[in-house]
Amino acid sequence: MYQDLREFITLVDKLGALRRIVDADPKFEIGGITEIAAALPECPALLFERIKGFAPGFRIFTNATTTPQRAAVALGIDPNLRPLDALKQWMKKRLTLTPLPPVAARSAPFLENSIRSSNVDLAKLPSPHWHRKDGGPFIGSGSLVVMRDPEDGWINASIYRVQVHGRTKVTIQFDHPGRHGAIIAKKYWEKGQSCPVAVVNGEDPALFVAGFEYLPTGQSEYDFAGAIRGAPIEVAPGPLTNLPLPARAEIILEGELLPSSQEMLPEGPFGEFTGYYASDKRPCPVMDVKAIHFRNDPILLGSPPMKPPRFHFGLPLRAATLWSNLDAVGVTDVVGVWQHVAQLMTVVAIRQRYAGHAKRAGLIAAANSYMARLIVVVDEDVDPANIGEVLWAIATRCEPAEQIDIVRDAWSSALDPRIPADKKLAEATSHSKAIIDACCPFAWKDKFPSTSSLTQDEARLIESKWGAALKAQHGTI
Ligand SMILES: Cc1cc2nc3c(=O)[nH]c(=O)nc-3n(C[C@H](O)[C@H](O)[C@H](O)COP(=O)(O)O)c2cc1C
Repeated sequence: MYQDLREFITLVDKLGALRRIVDADPKFEIGGITEIAAALPECPALLFERIKGFAPGFRIFTNATTTPQRAAVALGIDPNLRPLDALKQWMKKRLTLTPLPPVAARSAPFLENSIRSSNVDLAKLPSPHWHRKDGGPFIGSGSLVVMRDPEDGWINASIYRVQVHGRTKVTIQFDHPGRHGAIIAKKYWEKGQSCPVAVVNGEDPALFVAGFEYLPTGQSEYDFAGAIRGAPIEVAPGPLTNLPLPARAEIILEGELLPSSQEMLPEGPFGEFTGYYASDKRPCPVMDVKAIHFRNDPILLGSPPMKPPRFHFGLPLRAATLWSNLDAVGVTDVVGVWQHVAQLMTVVAIRQRYAGHAKRAGLIAAANSYMARLIVVVDEDVDPANIGEVLWAIATRCEPAEQIDIVRDAWSSALDPRIPADKKLAEATSHSKAIIDACCPFAWKDKFPSTSSLTQDEARLIESKWGAALKAQHGTI
């Protein structure tokens, strides 16, 4: 497997999925090109080179894991599997992962170049203005924020967005006070201290995936990423913070997160993964950047939120967790779970065994689907990863008057564009969810008209025998 972002980019190139873009402007253009590419059928990954206005050598890599194939490569799974089969493999692999603690690196490429104290100037780094109405440039759109818990010493390394404010200041945005980063910072602040922090930009994709996972308190994303890669992450101490930092990361900022009582800066707005600006500028914790370290010809990993269906991961990683949750509580015969519309719609496929089976699966999925208003349950002949098939099931098997239930006051967030502003001011973060039972009614499912289409197994067999013949053949004229 890859050892760092550069090796991952080489693998992507070998798949034929890399496009090199030269002379693009980080002000809106790089974000715009990324968004257009993410909607193309092949959804290429992009390496921006010779970025306008910056020293040659500084590069930005986007759309890293936005296809099922590249997400599979990141997870160490066969990239040729059907998307649902790849997600199932990840669901199973995830359950068997044994955390692998990091090891001390023999060398630290991120220290090839260092800028310190009065020489620190964040304007030297190409931080994109990703979307037109963003409140400023964001160096961190897929960056890890690394902190050490002052009581237990464990290292948290999660993804929080990072906006640049002038030469030496960035803000770090926690969506809510329950984020581990927010909890750790508060522990320092309550003792009147600043929180030592590092922002790791250009981490390898296993760290990117780990930074997105909901891990229990005390479990480091480093250990989880090591488990994904099957090899420990190599770390070296940050010269200023002494935090263990991924040795082969591309660009690292070191400094302190100032107590919120000392300084906060207005942060955002920032185009969100729902495709809207649902939250305005808000006061946000400030990091005083005291050093910038970077590899020669460094590559910033950019993962801007974009209008759905575009999403950071081509395999819906949260759906894998939902799938294992359903298995864990004893819902049998779940044959697939998927999320569409950038996690805003969850689909569960089951082999119905008893009356109420579909509703049971739907209710559990609804309870655990962050921000998703739509929960759909389909029969096993429907591929939940194929939105066309899911709509076909809804349109032909679901009698709305009988098979749609509404659950009120359920889990959403301040990013929800449909919660009115006055309610958000009163800290409302809940919405209603529709549970759409798009299965053939259990009572007469054996009498439901049979379908003319292939079963999933038949489709797999045909694909393996005839798939090559169906691929585009480039003839000569
Ligand atoms: C590309 C990307 C950007 C994210 N941006 C933020 C963010 O700005 N703030 C936030 O609180 N969570 C953000 N998240 C979600 C968190 O990284 C995720 O929920 C993580 O599990 C939080 O870790 P924690 O439980 O250790 O706090 C982002 C995730 C991704 C993949």
